[in-house]
Amino acid sequence: MGRLDLVSDGAVISRNGIIEWLGRTSDLPPIPSNAEVLDATGQVVLPGFIDSHTHLVFAGSRENEFEERLRGKSYQEIAAGGGGINATVQQVRQASKHELMEPTRRRLQRLLSFGVTTVEIKSGYGLTMADELKCLEVIAELNREGPWELVPTFLGAHAVPPEYRDNRGGYLRLVLDEMLPEIARSGLAEFCDVFCDQGAFTIEESQRILQRAGELRLRGKIHADELSPTGGADLAARMGAVSADHLLGISDTGIEALAQSETVATLLPGTAFFLGLNYAPARKMIEAGLPIALASDCNPGTCPTENLPLIGSLACTQMKMLPAEVISALTLNAAAAVGRSDRLGSIEVGKQADLIICNVPDYRQLFYHFGVSHVRRVIKRGRVVYAA
Ligand code: NIG
Ligand code: FE
Repeated sequence: MGRLDLVSDGAVISRNGIIEWLGRTSDLPPIPSNAEVLDATGQVVLPGFIDSHTHLVFAGSRENEFEERLRGKSYQEIAAGGGGINATVQQVRQASKHELMEPTRRRLQRLLSFGVTTVEIKSGYGLTMADELKCLEVIAELNREGPWELVPTFLGAHAVPPEYRDNRGGYLRLVLDEMLPEIARSGLAEFCDVFCDQGAFTIEESQRILQRAGELRLRGKIHADELSPTGGADLAARMGAVSADHLLGISDTGIEALAQSETVATLLPGTAFFLGLNYAPARKMIEAGLPIALASDCNPGTCPTENLPLIGSLACTQMKMLPAEVISALTLNAAAAVGRSDRLGSIEVGKQADLIICNVPDYRQLFYHFGVSHVRRVIKRGRVVYAA
């Protein structure tokens, strides 16, 4: 993770959206006279960032809860009192598809301005068949619209909705027997995620959901050991999940289990920052050989930001990740966390030409000069799709 292949005075050629050549500018082969040339002299060119964990489809906002937490309430207390995820669920149920598209598109545009060219988005604020499908359709439509590339994840097991408060078995059956088969049939989701935590879904429930998802060819992801250490990382490894996410409270056995697996550990330090929690033990995980991805978790409750490079700064200062490790975590490892490392996440011949040009002389400045966007141009599939 800590070793980047830096090319100084580098150049890249792409054709039809695919990287065709890369090397030093002095070695450039002849290029056609009608080729579009972008001058990045003195700047840093990187693979487009990949945000591999977001909850972008939502309506409304929860600044009231933000203030309640500042006054001393915990996230769990607010959720138990009817706020939290279910507060947003209420707003999403009332919103039309069109009313959800608008704000989601704006969030994607903001992500793009921070250099993010591929975004995983979870449903999970609908929690009825129709409302979950509505959210997944919003993702599909915005994906077609582009220029970004979206990875859809079904998160029906995000919370037990209020109408099932006294019947969680009933909600579990709805997810297992009705939502999962219908969503798999619709082709609207590629992954299935579960919020496995105290106050959310148990290890046993999460296992049943991921098992069923796997049978239906939806690949697994888990919100694991976020608010309390319940053993979600071990479950992710056991189930062969593509990623285990959050991991603030991961145990040593969890780290060991992930190290023996193919599962990517996705860390979301913006959430620890925003909730005032302890950060995931990134150094320990890197030393154990885990591939780590970093993502925003962008959502209205626990991390309302689209500034992915700022998440990188938090990873540096709060988890002691090195800038080079952060670059790997936002590109190639994040591509692996969404099952796309064969095509995305690095500048290599044959890969998709998703590139960003940053107005910094050294890549470390991306996280050192923090909180602002250094991204001047974003290239998706070989085309300039954003310029600042
Ligand atoms: O990743 N943990 C569950 N889901 C989100 C929070 C969603 C919300 O509070 O609206 C998370 O932190
Ligand atoms: Fe999340």
